[in-house]
Amino acid sequence: MITRRFAAPLAAVLTGGSVLLAPPTAVAAPPAEKPAERVDKTPVAEGYGGAVSTVDLDASKAALQVLRRGGNAVDAAIAAAATLGVTEPYSAGLAGGGFIVYYDARRGRVHTIDGRETAPGAMTSASLEGIPFEEAVTSGLSAGVPGSVAQWELALRRFGTISLRQALQPAIEVASKGFTVDQTFYDQTAANAARFKDFTSTAALYLPGGAPPAVGSTFRNPELADTYRKLGRYGGRWLYGGGLGAEIVRTVKSPPVTPGSTRNVRPGLMELSDLRAYRALERPPTRISYEGMDVYGMAPPSSGGSTVGEALNILEALPDVGVHEYLEASRLAFADRGKYVGDVPGVPLRELLSDGFAKERACLIGERAMAHPAPAGEPDGDYAPCPAPAGGAQPETAGPAREGPETTHLVVTDRWGNVVAYNITIESTGGNGIVVPGRGFLLNNELTDFTFGPAPGDPNLPGPGKRPRSSMAPTIVLDDGRPLLALGSPGGSTIITTVLQILVNRWELGMSLPEALAAPRATQRNTAQTQAEQAFLDRYGAELTARGHSFALNPEIGAATAVEFLGKGRLQAVAEPSRRGGGSALVVSPAR
Ligand code: GLY
Repeated sequence: MITRRFAAPLAAVLTGGSVLLAPPTAVAAPPAEKPAERVDKTPVAEGYGGAVSTVDLDASKAALQVLRRGGNAVDAAIAAAATLGVTEPYSAGLAGGGFIVYYDARRGRVHTIDGRETAPGAMTSASLEGIPFEEAVTSGLSAGVPGSVAQWELALRRFGTISLRQALQPAIEVASKGFTVDQTFYDQTAANAARFKDFTSTAALYLPGGAPPAVGSTFRNPELADTYRKLGRYGGRWLYGGGLGAEIVRTVKSPPVTPGSTRNVRPGLMELSDLRAYRALERPPTRISYEGMDVYGMAPPSSGGSTVGEALNILEALPDVGVHEYLEASRLAFADRGKYVGDVPGVPLRELLSDGFAKERACLIGERAMAHPAPAGEPDGDYAPCPAPAGGAQPETAGPAREGPETTHLVVTDRWGNVVAYNITIESTGGNGIVVPGRGFLLNNELTDFTFGPAPGDPNLPGPGKRPRSSMAPTIVLDDGRPLLALGSPGGSTIITTVLQILVNRWELGMSLPEALAAPRATQRNTAQTQAEQAFLDRYGAELTARGHSFALNPEIGAATAVEFLGKGRLQAVAEPSRRGGGSALVVSPAR
């Protein structure tokens, strides 16, 4: 067990829209903000008084600004998320959704907020049947009812200290003044150019002059700045049934296809009544205990918490844990995820996360990779003695081709010890490719996360008002009731394996947190082949192939962000050193 201690929290009191700190105690006050301070992009930062890690320097700076002005972790997380909507608009935005896991230091409790998109009321289990996946990706049909704005409002109302208007301010500044186009933004725009040009609004915004903005140029989004300003003024009602909502519905039902485009763009089913009906929801977190630590995650409709949790329980039941065991535990947990987890009543969450079930599943892990596919288990409370271990992998070629680098994750902690782990997404990189005309943001295509079917009994078939199963896994670990670690990643269903692998690296393979994030990755999701980065193959490929594993190359898996509580108030914020161009970790104060 890793034991860390953390300083006691203070309470923040909101008075008339400004934040007062109460009462002053021995905890160091943050330094006054220096207007012209130069802040560089670095993947690791250590210090005190609060910390943030995102994939992007502007977003991390937005969070830091809020923290330094007395805001708490929730305030800062929303500010960072809104800024990512400007600078990482292909991964995040106000028309997307996400999941927040939040540790409330004052009450010592973990909460979650589900801001997942919903299917329109007119959607049935057959609505996506027979539609080619690639066609659904760029369509009005795949746009879910956006959850992010409702989630931001709920998070700020329940746990924040500033208004939505205040939280949007840093993002408005970045959208107005512009940000510097980096290689990642350029590459993502170029990869999407063929479909962006098929929509007049998207081409006008992201292909100025017909091409992606050049690396090093300044990219402004005044329409998004205006949208955020109005959102701050009118509140979420403007979207959930008001004028902005009407514009979204119009765009979904009648996408602004460029004249002459030959793309078959299916219209969506969304109505203003679907927007009116949308609610962000507080849900109990998932929790498992691993070597004495409490690992909290996101419950359904995300499969993140249950799948990471089940795999950790399986690993805990094994005498030794290495990369082979990591892959096998993940394989088994994914088999159960596929059969049992979705936005349906009766997900057997308690049993999926029980030690008895984990022990039964762990029995299947032998010296060699198990046969593909691993069957789902029976999380029924009646657990058998250990059966004979399965053996012999069946080499096949197919792996899930659909998972890309989409989505983003951020972590923030504040001087009081509150912690936010937040996954936000518009699903595909570039969402459905359709910018709402004049508004400066892309729509999501989250409904492609449903199983298209026909698939009788699949818990993830679409349905009216249903939330597609997610893999997002914002995770907070407590030790003795105090924060120890918070982490998460983008990457579709590889999110789960990235979070799991980082925890295995940190706790079982003796790596520091920066090493655990930088280490080469592999992802086994009950597929015939394990996808792996080249450096993972170089390091473990021969050994694992000899044990029956079979691999396919995946050039880059995940883009994690994390923070570790090192004890005595010291924080270590960590981002990727190189994946997705590297992330940005910042602390409020490098010295106590
Ligand atoms: N759209 C990515 C996920 O929800 O897992």
